[in-house]
Amino acid sequence: MIEKDFIPSAYNQTITEGKVSYKSPSNIALVKYWGKKENQLPQNPSISFTLDACATTTTVSFKKLDKLSDNYSFDLWFEGKVKEDFKPKIVTFFSRVAVYLPFLKAYHFTIETSNSFPHSSGIASSASGMSALALCMVALEKQLNPEMNDDYFVQKASFLARLGSGSACRSIEGDIVQWGKHEKTKGSSDLFGIKYPYVVHDNFKRFHDTILLVDKGQKQVSSTVGHNLMHNHPYATQRFEQAHDNLDKLIAVFKSGDLKEFIAIVESEALTLHAMMMTSMPYFILMKPNTLEIINKIWEFREKSGSNVCFTLDAGANVHVLYPENEKDIVFQFIKEELIAYCENQQYICDRIGFGAKQLKMNA
Ligand code: DP6
Repeated sequence: MIEKDFIPSAYNQTITEGKVSYKSPSNIALVKYWGKKENQLPQNPSISFTLDACATTTTVSFKKLDKLSDNYSFDLWFEGKVKEDFKPKIVTFFSRVAVYLPFLKAYHFTIETSNSFPHSSGIASSASGMSALALCMVALEKQLNPEMNDDYFVQKASFLARLGSGSACRSIEGDIVQWGKHEKTKGSSDLFGIKYPYVVHDNFKRFHDTILLVDKGQKQVSSTVGHNLMHNHPYATQRFEQAHDNLDKLIAVFKSGDLKEFIAIVESEALTLHAMMMTSMPYFILMKPNTLEIINKIWEFREKSGSNVCFTLDAGANVHVLYPENEKDIVFQFIKEELIAYCENQQYICDRIGFGAKQLKMNA
């Protein structure tokens, strides 16, 4: 598939009004996307576990306008309230996807959205939010063109979600999604995420992710600023190569179920992401003292117990604690007894691998 394959030919249906709704999850990267080119194309391939509990639910009501709008015509409601300050993000998204969704100016949209996790949790909502919105838009397009097949539907939703936020393209399906051209992964593309196409050992089925909310504040570095730090970064080339190598290694790990090697790759990726931020210009430290306390506790516990618990980080201070299903009791007890004390207001979210976005039925 290339970009122009996502530009539709004329629609064969006319729809004057309706409503579509999707619940779409967040995801946690194992190999990180950090650095992008023009048009939201990644500098390196990445792979993630789709999550289950952390999700955005978006409902789009649409009504045909008498004439095309000059700009995009929409209202935005977030958790039951009109939210003017989210509108510029949607306008940017609409202008990036307009050529692929030629109906955008023909309708007025009411977009109602809400998150399952608290807004001020430091959890990025761009992946779940942009994927939910992209899915609603493709669902509307499918009403205009009912012949659209399921594979195309999913690919287009991922393609559009990527234009909203890179990592969002990994939130449409589960349970493991790869995005970005990688030589050894058949079907991989910079344009959209694909379901990981090879064998996955039972050790990785239903993995847990307990998210420790170390710092619930606003992100210190926006993703746009963050990704830009990789332009002219002294270690960029090596970093992008490393991501390819780690994906090569993960193919073998997913097949064999080697949890020790999995831990080594995942923790190294998390620390490399933060190392990139510490060695860019300007430089940032996004970990907090409690992030390091938690990491050290996890290492101590692993040493002592032989458990396969590990951590990963996104571009902030919160810690994602990852562990296999058959260790859930001992690790959760360890988390409660030793880690929760390092969280802001002792807050954490119990999540696990999920299976992708779901359409919600609308009452007519
Ligand atoms: C550290 O997808 O939020 O979470 O494309 O600018 O919206 P934009 O960036 P975004 O970046 C996510 C970065 C990351 C790593 C990852 O999810 O792969």
